[in-house]
Amino acid sequence: MLSREDNDLLTLTGLGTAMGGLLRRYWMPVLLSSELPEPDCPPKKVKVLGEDLLAFRDTTGKVGLVEPVCPHRGANLYYGRNENCGLRCVFHGWKFDTTGQCVDLPTAPPDSPYKERIRIKAYRTQEWGDYIWAYMGDEAEAPPLPMMAFALVPPTHRYVSKKWQDCNWLQCVEGAVDTAHFSFLHMILGTEEMDEKAAVERLKHAALGAQAVRNDRFRWVRDDPMPKFSVEEFASGLVLGAARAADGEDLYWRITHFLSPNHALAPSAFPGENYHGQTFVPVSDTSCWIYTYTWNPDRPLTAEEIAMAKGGHTVHAAVDEHYVPLRNIRNDYLIDREDQKHNSFTGIQGVSEQDAAIQDSQGPIADRTREHLGATDIGVVRTRRVLLQQVRDSMSGVAPKALSHPEAYAVHSGGWVAHRSKPLDEVMVERFGDAEGRGTRPPTG
Ligand code: FES
Ligand SMILES: [Fe+2]
Repeated sequence: MLSREDNDLLTLTGLGTAMGGLLRRYWMPVLLSSELPEPDCPPKKVKVLGEDLLAFRDTTGKVGLVEPVCPHRGANLYYGRNENCGLRCVFHGWKFDTTGQCVDLPTAPPDSPYKERIRIKAYRTQEWGDYIWAYMGDEAEAPPLPMMAFALVPPTHRYVSKKWQDCNWLQCVEGAVDTAHFSFLHMILGTEEMDEKAAVERLKHAALGAQAVRNDRFRWVRDDPMPKFSVEEFASGLVLGAARAADGEDLYWRITHFLSPNHALAPSAFPGENYHGQTFVPVSDTSCWIYTYTWNPDRPLTAEEIAMAKGGHTVHAAVDEHYVPLRNIRNDYLIDREDQKHNSFTGIQGVSEQDAAIQDSQGPIADRTREHLGATDIGVVRTRRVLLQQVRDSMSGVAPKALSHPEAYAVHSGGWVAHRSKPLDEVMVERFGDAEGRGTRPPTG
């Protein structure tokens, strides 16, 4: 449970808010690179952290992210011409480059210095991992980009997308670090009676992956609804291990990372399987874009894997041409009550859609003053604690340590089976093979 003040502190991200100030210290994705597919293509409206912005790719390929209001008489530059290294307002022809500088002002004499004084607000951008990232904070304090693992692999080894969500960003983050819900929300009924082939087909659409039946992961998750959490803080965030009873003396670990301030990696991958992650970027206080990525550090993704991601699989949703999930709050996620009775816990198709349904259902901004938390909510509690600490530090001028550790973002989450005597840090070393046990170097194959 949180106080009303802390709930507001954590969730509100507009200009002038404390969390808005914290998020603006970090780089965050604001578009897929493919949304600005070529030089001088049409500009894209972008809303992020409550600010209406405009992105355009200039003639050299550089991306500008600017305020859309022309400083002459306020026309919207969205209708502008993207030509010859700048965006030209179609009202009276003033033109701006990607830095926001006015570079042509045809309503003044050519030798007039007037245009030098005219500029629009522009944020710094970089392309990284097939996303366009923006930095919306103090120019003098721009940190390096976070070295997220999906962005470090060759483009053939990853698939990136995004999906719209109709609720506050924080409850999506919390959904991702709360891996206890797997025993319910994503459960499939009746696999014991099904033959293995049918069960694998069904599980292809579940976050546990198609191998789940063969190696018993599904059964362990289903049969132990009280995973024991171990949480460790490190430079870029938290490692959150959830251990369930496996067979004999073993525990089944599902390990996820929370990476400050708005990324989470999925806990399902065993060595050789694909990794998944999500980044939650507020649009307003009651909506967000979730940037979703799948990668394999060892090999290119197959055509079948990419087709599955495009169709909605694991963290990816089935979306329309505007990246709005086909199953969403406006159609009750196409819940099928017959399916819910006989086949799946929710009757909603797709892991991503199941998550969205339940996160949206917590309200536009979840009211955390009315919660009753327990031992399986430790991951959520610790994540909030990290963010609250960073917000408070940030308000008193202290920068989060994650900003100076971009290398600490190059981590992998995943699953492992280990003897019950082993603590999380030993399990991490065993699973990921790196000396610090942070998931920085997954074994191949
Ligand atoms: S309003 Fe944009 S040039 Fe006049
Ligand atoms: Fe989930």
